[in-house]
Amino acid sequence: MGRASSLTLQPASPHIGADVLDIDMAEAIEKNDTAVLDAIRNAIEEHIVLRFRKQTLKPEQVEQLGRYFGPLLSLKRKNNDAAHIEGIEYLKIISNVQQNDGRPLGDGSSAPQDWHTDGAAKPIPAGYTYFYARKVPAVPPKTYWMNAYLIYENLPAEMKEKIAGLRVIHHEYPAGNEFPLSPSKPLEERLVGPQHPLVRLHPTTGRPILFLPHRDDMLVVGMSEDESFSLISQLRRHAAESPYWWSAAMEVDDLVIWDNRSALHKRDGWEQSLERIIWHLANEGEPPIPHSAASRAA
Ligand SMILES: [Fe+2]
Repeated sequence: MGRASSLTLQPASPHIGADVLDIDMAEAIEKNDTAVLDAIRNAIEEHIVLRFRKQTLKPEQVEQLGRYFGPLLSLKRKNNDAAHIEGIEYLKIISNVQQNDGRPLGDGSSAPQDWHTDGAAKPIPAGYTYFYARKVPAVPPKTYWMNAYLIYENLPAEMKEKIAGLRVIHHEYPAGNEFPLSPSKPLEERLVGPQHPLVRLHPTTGRPILFLPHRDDMLVVGMSEDESFSLISQLRRHAAESPYWWSAAMEVDDLVIWDNRSALHKRDGWEQSLERIIWHLANEGEPPIPHSAASRAA
């Protein structure tokens, strides 16, 4: 166990994640306790994922917490008012619950999801992500986080050389993270999307990160469809087989914050009749910074 500034931290695994003990987040927010909040920011840089258990937070307080770390990202879903809490601008509900009117409360899904980065199909993917568990099945599904710094660092040198400077087109795919992954879109549709660097730099730590595409069929700029598939599937296999991850089944009142740049995440599915409700908030990120030749030489 270690003490970072005013926090007591208990690492959750050798490679990623920590529990923050003895913190009343509602109190820290209400008092605007900048010593605690700044220590949380530092701890996220070090551990990438932080879990705070047994928290009592109102929607406004979760938003207030997020605002301390930067501008909030609008997660509004088209045609689904139910995914939001009335009067609350940014907090979104992730849930498979069916309401009395038959509409899903959140996205309606209990499907498993494969490793991904939130907002990868947007020009500016999310920064920090916040999950606050409000209702979970008796045996809750696990969420997994992977240290994407270590995924890059542990690539063979020739692979690092090969992927340096490459960009991938992150095409949009409805429910694109759900596993098993759905069939490919036509080639011309996979050519549309933001072109993100395959290796990005973290904006504050300056460390390189493998920005892993969440589908094998994404296209690498300047490569054929077959070459792209071969390279991306190899990288995704390298990540999937790595030991640099931690998993936790979120319990009610658990708050988890992670850095969506340096962590990939995925989840297990669960029985659709069992209800799960997670409040979801995110900060705006920044356009991914390429790990250019200049930055590699530095
Ligand atoms: Fe996600």
